[in-house]
Amino acid sequence: MNPAAASGERASAGRALVIGAGGEVGSAIAGELLRSGWQVVAVGRSQARLQALQQRWQPVGELPWRVGSVADAASATSLADALHQTFGGFDAVVTSVNGPVSPMAITSSDPRQVMATFQADLLPHLVAAQTFIPRLAPGSTYLVIGGGMADAVQPGLGAVSMVQAALRQLVRQLALENQGRGVRVHELLLRGLVLGHRQRSTGRAPVIDDAHVGRTVADILSLREPASEPVFTLAGRRPVPDLPGTAAAAAR
Ligand SMILES: NC(=O)c1ccc[n+]([C@@H]2O[C@H](COP(=O)([O-])OP(=O)(O)OC[C@H]3O[C@@H](n4cnc5c(N)ncnc54)[C@H](OP(=O)(O)O)[C@@H]3O)[C@@H](O)[C@H]2O)c1
Repeated sequence: MNPAAASGERASAGRALVIGAGGEVGSAIAGELLRSGWQVVAVGRSQARLQALQQRWQPVGELPWRVGSVADAASATSLADALHQTFGGFDAVVTSVNGPVSPMAITSSDPRQVMATFQADLLPHLVAAQTFIPRLAPGSTYLVIGGGMADAVQPGLGAVSMVQAALRQLVRQLALENQGRGVRVHELLLRGLVLGHRQRSTGRAPVIDDAHVGRTVADILSLREPASEPVFTLAGRRPVPDLPGTAAAAAR
């Protein structure tokens, strides 16, 4: 399903917070949302990356940023409080955070090393969701960016795969728990390497263009009605609902 076509009416753009905006995927999301008419606030841990992001998108519009972390509840709460003081509320929050990838064999790795991937990759998503979703008003959207390793098995990437599968289930649970409040919770699962500003210089074969990811995020944020499935998958040109076992899933 194409989110842009999922609802006849589209919500007008409001104010969006992008957490992880200094990253490969987050930076394109922040810029494309700006281009789509959203007022965007960018968050990341690295001031240098946020400044570079602001400069890159300056021809399109103002992109205020704030350095902050969602590594633990205390940091995330002080970030949320500071953002609220400066900007007020948000109509949408997009979380596009990731830790460093450390390839390892699950069979022979120290269990603590495996769990460190959960700590670096999943915990920030959990903390961000617990901090920012309760602050969203009815009609707002919380969107998580996830990866296609949720369904893949590759040498060395077992821990990443486990985290991404867990992230998808986390989103489904959050969507269920927040249905009654009228806050939409979604994941956009990117099934393939994203051609972003870093990947462009590596010569690796990309699958998904970063601007396309950003425009798809804008489409999802503008949905008025809750979608039946909280997880959208983007593997090529069009996002589809992530329903394992369906014809659409088989076709991928
Ligand atoms: N890149 C791809 O090809 C690709 C493909 C499929 C799916 N994805 C998914 O897209 C999402 C983002 O990945 P990415 O490739 O853009 O990663 P990335 O380039 O490493 O960027 C991740 C961003 O998250 C920020 N971050 C990490 N931990 C944080 C924390 N505790 N608090 C605040 N910010 C934090 C980092 O901040 P700093 O800038 O300060 O380090 C960085 O800006 C992930 O869910 C990933 O699975 C990516």
